[in-house]
Amino acid sequence: MKIESVTYVERAAPLTASELTAALSGIDIVLSEPQDDLSKGILSRCKALKMVAQRAVGYDNVDLDYCNRSGILLSNTPGVLDNATADLAFSLLLCAARRIVEADRYVRAGLWHGFESDLLLGREISGKTLGIVGLGRIGEAMARRAWGFGLKIIYCRSAHKTSGATEIELDEKDRRLAESLGARRVSMNELLSESDFISLHCPLKKETTNLIGAAELALMKNGCILVNTARGKVVEEKALVEAVTKGKIIAALDVFAQEPTVPPQLVKAPNTVLAPHIGSATDETRLAMAELAVSAVLQVLQGQLPANLVNPQIFESTVNKL
Ligand code: GLV
Repeated sequence: MKIESVTYVERAAPLTASELTAALSGIDIVLSEPQDDLSKGILSRCKALKMVAQRAVGYDNVDLDYCNRSGILLSNTPGVLDNATADLAFSLLLCAARRIVEADRYVRAGLWHGFESDLLLGREISGKTLGIVGLGRIGEAMARRAWGFGLKIIYCRSAHKTSGATEIELDEKDRRLAESLGARRVSMNELLSESDFISLHCPLKKETTNLIGAAELALMKNGCILVNTARGKVVEEKALVEAVTKGKIIAALDVFAQEPTVPPQLVKAPNTVLAPHIGSATDETRLAMAELAVSAVLQVLQGQLPANLVNPQIFESTVNKL
Protein backbone atom coordinates (compact mmCIF):
# COMPACT_ATOMS: atom_id res chain seq x y z
CA MET A 1 0.00 0.00 0.00
CA LYS A 2 1.16 3.53 -0.80
CA ILE A 3 0.38 6.59 1.29
CA GLU A 4 -2.01 8.66 -0.80
CA SER A 5 -2.59 11.57 1.52
CA VAL A 6 -1.53 12.79 4.94
CA THR A 7 -3.81 14.92 7.11
CA TYR A 8 -2.37 16.97 9.94
CA VAL A 9 -4.83 17.83 12.70
CA GLU A 10 -3.81 21.02 14.48
CA ARG A 11 -4.71 20.87 18.17
CA ALA A 12 -3.66 22.75 21.25
CA ALA A 13 -6.06 20.92 23.57
CA PRO A 14 -7.14 17.26 23.48
CA LEU A 15 -9.80 16.62 20.85
CA THR A 16 -13.27 15.78 22.08
CA ALA A 17 -14.69 12.34 21.26
CA SER A 18 -16.69 13.70 18.32
CA GLU A 19 -13.76 15.75 16.99
CA LEU A 20 -11.49 12.73 17.21
CA THR A 21 -14.02 10.43 15.54
CA ALA A 22 -14.53 12.96 12.75
CA ALA A 23 -10.77 13.42 12.32
CA LEU A 24 -10.24 9.66 12.03
CA SER A 25 -13.14 8.98 9.69
CA GLY A 26 -11.82 7.10 6.63
CA ILE A 27 -8.25 7.15 8.00
CA ASP A 28 -6.19 3.92 7.69
CA ILE A 29 -3.24 4.86 9.90
CA VAL A 30 -3.03 7.42 12.69
CA LEU A 31 0.04 8.91 14.35
CA SER A 32 -1.24 9.51 17.86
CA GLU A 33 -0.04 10.95 21.17
CA PRO A 34 -0.89 10.29 24.84
CA GLN A 35 -3.64 12.93 24.86
CA ASP A 36 -5.61 11.16 22.09
CA ASP A 37 -8.32 9.08 23.69
CA LEU A 38 -8.28 5.96 21.53
CA SER A 39 -10.58 3.98 23.77
CA LYS A 40 -12.96 1.31 22.51
CA GLY A 41 -15.82 3.80 22.11
CA ILE A 42 -13.80 5.87 19.64
CA LEU A 43 -11.91 3.06 17.91
CA SER A 44 -15.12 1.15 17.21
CA ARG A 45 -16.37 4.12 15.20
CA CYS A 46 -13.18 4.35 13.10
CA LYS A 47 -13.99 1.53 10.72
CA ALA A 48 -11.09 2.13 8.30
CA LEU A 49 -8.39 2.22 10.99
CA LYS A 50 -5.70 -0.48 10.66
CA MET A 51 -2.75 0.97 12.53
CA VAL A 52 -2.13 3.30 15.48
CA ALA A 53 1.47 4.59 15.56
CA GLN A 54 1.73 6.12 19.01
CA ARG A 55 4.43 8.76 19.35
CA ALA A 56 5.14 7.88 22.98
CA VAL A 57 6.39 4.92 24.91
CA GLY A 58 3.21 4.72 27.02
CA TYR A 59 0.04 3.66 25.20
CA ASP A 60 -2.49 3.57 28.03
CA ASN A 61 -4.70 5.91 25.98
CA VAL A 62 -5.20 3.13 23.41
CA ASP A 63 -7.45 0.13 24.06
CA LEU A 64 -4.98 -2.64 23.23
CA ASP A 65 -7.51 -5.45 23.72
CA TYR A 66 -9.85 -3.81 21.25
CA CYS A 67 -6.97 -3.34 18.79
CA ASN A 68 -6.04 -7.02 19.11
CA ARG A 69 -9.63 -8.15 18.59
CA SER A 70 -10.22 -5.81 15.66
CA GLY A 71 -6.96 -6.24 13.79
CA ILE A 72 -5.53 -2.78 14.50
CA LEU A 73 -1.73 -2.72 14.73
CA LEU A 74 -0.24 -0.62 17.53
CA SER A 75 3.34 0.66 17.68
CA ASN A 76 5.06 2.87 20.27
CA THR A 77 8.45 4.55 20.68
CA PRO A 78 10.47 2.69 23.33
CA GLY A 79 14.15 3.27 24.00
CA VAL A 80 14.63 6.72 22.51
CA LEU A 81 13.29 8.80 25.39
CA ASP A 82 14.89 7.16 28.41
CA ASN A 83 17.58 9.77 29.01
CA ALA A 84 15.34 12.78 28.39
CA THR A 85 12.66 11.46 30.75
CA ALA A 86 15.16 10.49 33.46
CA ASP A 87 16.76 13.95 33.12
CA LEU A 88 13.38 15.55 33.73
CA ALA A 89 12.63 13.29 36.70
CA PHE A 90 15.99 14.09 38.24
CA SER A 91 15.52 17.82 37.53
CA LEU A 92 12.16 17.71 39.30
CA LEU A 93 13.81 16.02 42.27
CA LEU A 94 16.55 18.65 42.43
CA CYS A 95 14.05 21.50 41.96
CA ALA A 96 11.94 20.23 44.84
CA ALA A 97 14.88 19.47 47.13
CA ARG A 98 16.70 22.75 46.48
CA ARG A 99 13.56 24.91 46.09
CA ILE A 100 14.73 26.24 42.74
CA VAL A 101 11.31 27.34 41.47
CA GLU A 102 10.62 29.18 44.72
CA ALA A 103 14.07 30.79 44.55
CA ASP A 104 13.46 31.95 41.00
CA ARG A 105 10.13 33.54 41.99
CA TYR A 106 11.77 35.16 44.99
CA VAL A 107 14.45 36.85 42.86
CA ARG A 108 11.97 37.95 40.17
CA ALA A 109 9.69 39.44 42.81
CA GLY A 110 12.56 41.70 43.91
CA LEU A 111 12.58 40.18 47.40
CA TRP A 112 16.32 39.46 47.54
CA HIS A 113 18.17 42.00 49.63
CA GLY A 114 21.42 40.22 50.38
CA PHE A 115 23.02 36.97 51.53
CA GLU A 116 21.23 35.32 54.43
CA SER A 117 22.55 32.12 55.92
CA ASP A 118 19.10 30.59 56.31
CA LEU A 119 17.56 31.82 53.08
CA LEU A 120 15.62 29.12 51.15
CA LEU A 121 17.31 26.21 52.87
CA GLY A 122 16.68 22.96 51.05
CA ARG A 123 17.49 19.29 51.38
CA GLU A 124 20.85 17.68 50.70
CA ILE A 125 20.63 15.03 47.99
CA SER A 126 23.76 12.97 48.49
CA GLY A 127 23.63 10.26 51.12
CA LYS A 128 19.82 10.10 50.99
CA THR A 129 17.76 7.14 49.79
CA LEU A 130 15.94 7.24 46.46
CA GLY A 131 13.19 4.68 45.89
CA ILE A 132 12.47 3.90 42.24
CA VAL A 133 9.15 2.26 41.44
CA GLY A 134 9.49 0.32 38.19
CA LEU A 135 12.97 -0.46 36.96
CA GLY A 136 12.56 -0.57 33.21
CA ARG A 137 14.71 1.48 30.85
CA ILE A 138 13.71 4.89 32.27
CA GLY A 139 13.92 3.72 35.89
CA GLU A 140 17.41 2.40 35.23
CA ALA A 141 18.45 5.71 33.61
CA MET A 142 17.15 7.45 36.75
CA ALA A 143 19.17 5.05 38.93
CA ARG A 144 22.37 5.86 37.01
CA ARG A 145 21.80 9.58 37.60
CA ALA A 146 21.11 8.95 41.29
CA TRP A 147 24.35 6.95 41.61
CA GLY A 148 26.26 9.92 40.18
CA PHE A 149 24.76 12.16 42.86
CA GLY A 150 25.73 9.85 45.70
CA LEU A 151 22.23 8.63 46.51
CA LYS A 152 21.49 5.21 47.96
CA ILE A 153 19.16 3.44 45.54
CA ILE A 154 16.38 1.02 46.36
CA TYR A 155 13.80 -0.13 43.85
CA CYS A 156 10.91 -2.45 43.21
CA ARG A 157 10.41 -3.99 39.82
CA SER A 158 6.92 -5.39 39.71
CA ALA A 159 4.83 -2.41 40.61
CA HIS A 160 1.93 -4.02 42.45
CA LYS A 161 0.40 -3.09 45.75
CA THR A 162 1.90 -5.39 48.34
CA SER A 163 1.08 -5.93 51.95
CA GLY A 164 3.88 -6.85 54.28
CA ALA A 165 7.19 -8.42 53.38
CA THR A 166 7.36 -10.65 50.35
CA GLU A 167 10.08 -13.00 49.28
CA ILE A 168 11.91 -11.45 46.34
CA GLU A 169 13.82 -13.67 43.98
CA LEU A 170 16.74 -11.74 42.55
CA ASP A 171 17.71 -12.29 38.94
CA GLU A 172 20.60 -11.32 36.69
CA LYS A 173 19.40 -7.73 36.30
CA ASP A 174 19.17 -7.26 40.08
CA ARG A 175 22.70 -8.61 40.51
CA ARG A 176 24.02 -6.31 37.78
CA LEU A 177 22.34 -3.26 39.38
CA ALA A 178 23.66 -4.19 42.82
CA GLU A 179 27.17 -4.53 41.45
CA SER A 180 27.24 -1.42 39.27
CA LEU A 181 25.09 1.02 41.27
CA GLY A 182 24.87 -0.53 44.71
CA ALA A 183 21.11 -0.64 44.13
CA ARG A 184 18.96 -2.90 46.31
CA ARG A 185 15.68 -4.49 45.26
CA VAL A 186 13.03 -4.30 47.98
CA SER A 187 9.30 -4.80 48.40
CA MET A 188 6.95 -1.93 47.67
CA ASN A 189 6.22 -1.37 51.36
CA GLU A 190 9.92 -1.23 52.27
CA LEU A 191 10.48 1.21 49.44
CA LEU A 192 7.65 3.46 50.61
CA SER A 193 8.83 3.60 54.21
CA GLU A 194 12.61 3.74 53.68
CA SER A 195 12.89 6.33 50.89
CA ASP A 196 13.61 10.03 51.36
CA PHE A 197 12.65 10.54 47.72
CA ILE A 198 10.48 8.35 45.48
CA SER A 199 10.34 8.43 41.69
CA LEU A 200 7.68 6.58 39.70
CA HIS A 201 8.70 4.87 36.47
CA CYS A 202 6.09 2.18 35.85
CA PRO A 203 3.69 2.10 32.90
CA LEU A 204 0.00 2.76 33.56
CA LYS A 205 -1.88 -0.56 33.47
CA LYS A 206 -4.79 -2.03 35.35
CA GLU A 207 -2.42 -3.20 38.13
CA THR A 208 -0.68 0.18 38.45
CA THR A 209 -3.77 2.40 38.37
CA ASN A 210 -3.93 4.16 41.77
CA LEU A 211 -0.85 2.21 42.83
CA ILE A 212 -0.03 5.05 45.20
CA GLY A 213 -3.13 5.77 47.27
CA ALA A 214 -3.81 7.04 50.78
CA ALA A 215 -2.31 3.95 52.45
CA GLU A 216 0.90 4.15 50.42
CA LEU A 217 1.23 7.91 51.00
CA ALA A 218 0.78 7.31 54.73
CA LEU A 219 3.71 4.86 54.70
CA MET A 220 6.05 7.50 53.24
CA LYS A 221 8.39 9.48 55.47
CA ASN A 222 7.17 12.94 56.37
CA GLY A 223 8.57 15.37 53.82
CA CYS A 224 9.23 12.64 51.25
CA ILE A 225 9.62 14.08 47.75
CA LEU A 226 7.41 12.16 45.30
CA VAL A 227 8.40 12.57 41.66
CA ASN A 228 5.97 11.43 38.97
CA THR A 229 7.00 11.45 35.31
CA ALA A 230 5.11 8.20 34.56
CA ARG A 231 1.35 8.73 34.35
CA GLY A 232 -0.96 10.75 36.60
CA LYS A 233 -3.31 7.85 37.22
CA VAL A 234 -0.55 5.79 38.86
CA VAL A 235 -1.27 8.02 41.86
CA GLU A 236 -4.74 8.44 43.31
CA GLU A 237 -5.00 12.18 42.78
CA LYS A 238 -7.47 12.89 45.59
CA ALA A 239 -5.18 11.22 48.11
CA LEU A 240 -2.19 13.04 46.64
CA VAL A 241 -3.93 16.41 47.01
CA GLU A 242 -4.69 15.57 50.63
CA ALA A 243 -1.10 14.51 51.40
CA VAL A 244 0.25 17.69 49.77
CA THR A 245 -2.28 19.93 51.51
CA LYS A 246 -1.43 18.41 54.90
CA GLY A 247 2.29 18.93 54.19
CA LYS A 248 2.98 15.21 54.45
CA ILE A 249 4.90 15.09 51.15
CA ILE A 250 6.41 17.34 48.51
CA ALA A 251 5.14 16.50 45.03
CA ALA A 252 7.17 17.10 41.87
CA LEU A 253 4.87 16.24 39.00
CA ASP A 254 5.03 16.14 35.22
CA VAL A 255 1.82 14.16 34.78
CA PHE A 256 -1.73 14.40 36.10
CA ALA A 257 -4.80 12.20 36.19
CA GLN A 258 -6.93 14.33 33.84
CA GLU A 259 -4.48 16.30 31.73
CA PRO A 260 -4.40 19.19 31.11
CA THR A 261 -6.42 19.75 34.29
CA VAL A 262 -4.28 20.33 37.39
CA PRO A 263 -6.13 20.28 40.71
CA PRO A 264 -6.19 23.89 42.02
CA GLN A 265 -4.92 22.74 45.44
CA LEU A 266 -1.71 21.51 43.78
CA VAL A 267 -1.31 24.84 42.00
CA LYS A 268 -1.76 26.79 45.25
CA ALA A 269 0.43 24.56 47.40
CA PRO A 270 3.97 25.76 48.20
CA ASN A 271 5.20 22.15 48.38
CA THR A 272 4.71 21.23 44.72
CA VAL A 273 6.73 21.61 41.53
CA LEU A 274 4.57 21.27 38.43
CA ALA A 275 5.41 20.65 34.77
CA PRO A 276 3.11 20.14 31.75
CA HIS A 277 3.99 16.55 30.68
CA ILE A 278 7.39 17.43 29.16
CA GLY A 279 9.32 14.29 30.14
CA SER A 280 10.52 13.57 26.60
CA ALA A 281 10.43 17.17 25.39
CA THR A 282 13.88 17.80 23.97
CA ASP A 283 14.51 18.58 20.29
CA GLU A 284 16.57 15.44 19.85
CA THR A 285 14.19 13.06 21.63
CA ARG A 286 10.96 14.32 20.09
CA LEU A 287 12.55 14.02 16.65
CA ALA A 288 13.75 10.47 17.41
CA MET A 289 10.24 9.56 18.61
CA ALA A 290 8.65 10.95 15.45
CA GLU A 291 11.15 9.08 13.28
CA LEU A 292 10.55 5.82 15.14
CA ALA A 293 6.77 6.18 14.84
CA VAL A 294 6.97 6.97 11.12
CA SER A 295 9.46 4.17 10.44
CA ALA A 296 7.05 1.67 12.02
CA VAL A 297 4.36 2.83 9.60
CA LEU A 298 6.69 2.62 6.60
CA GLN A 299 7.85 -0.86 7.58
CA VAL A 300 4.29 -2.09 7.93
CA LEU A 301 3.43 -0.64 4.53
CA GLN A 302 6.36 -2.60 3.08
CA GLY A 303 5.12 -5.77 4.73
CA GLN A 304 7.88 -5.80 7.35
CA LEU A 305 7.36 -6.39 11.05
CA PRO A 306 8.60 -3.36 13.05
CA ALA A 307 10.53 -4.13 16.25
CA ASN A 308 8.40 -1.56 18.09
CA LEU A 309 5.05 -3.18 17.31
CA VAL A 310 3.14 -3.74 20.57
CA ASN A 311 0.92 -6.47 19.12
CA PRO A 312 3.15 -8.45 16.72
CA GLN A 313 0.86 -11.49 17.14
CA ILE A 314 -1.74 -9.90 14.82
CA PHE A 315 0.80 -8.65 12.25
CA GLU A 316 0.43 -11.48 9.73
CA SER A 317 -3.35 -11.40 9.72
CA THR A 318 -3.54 -7.60 9.52
CA VAL A 319 -0.73 -6.60 7.19
CA ASN A 320 -2.51 -8.05 4.16
CA LYS A 321 -5.44 -5.69 4.68
CA LEU A 322 -3.25 -2.64 4.13
C1 GLV B 1 5.16 10.15 27.16
O1 GLV B 1 4.46 10.40 28.06
C2 GLV B 1 5.45 8.84 26.70
O2 GLV B 1 4.82 7.86 27.16
O3 GLV B 1 6.32 8.70 25.83
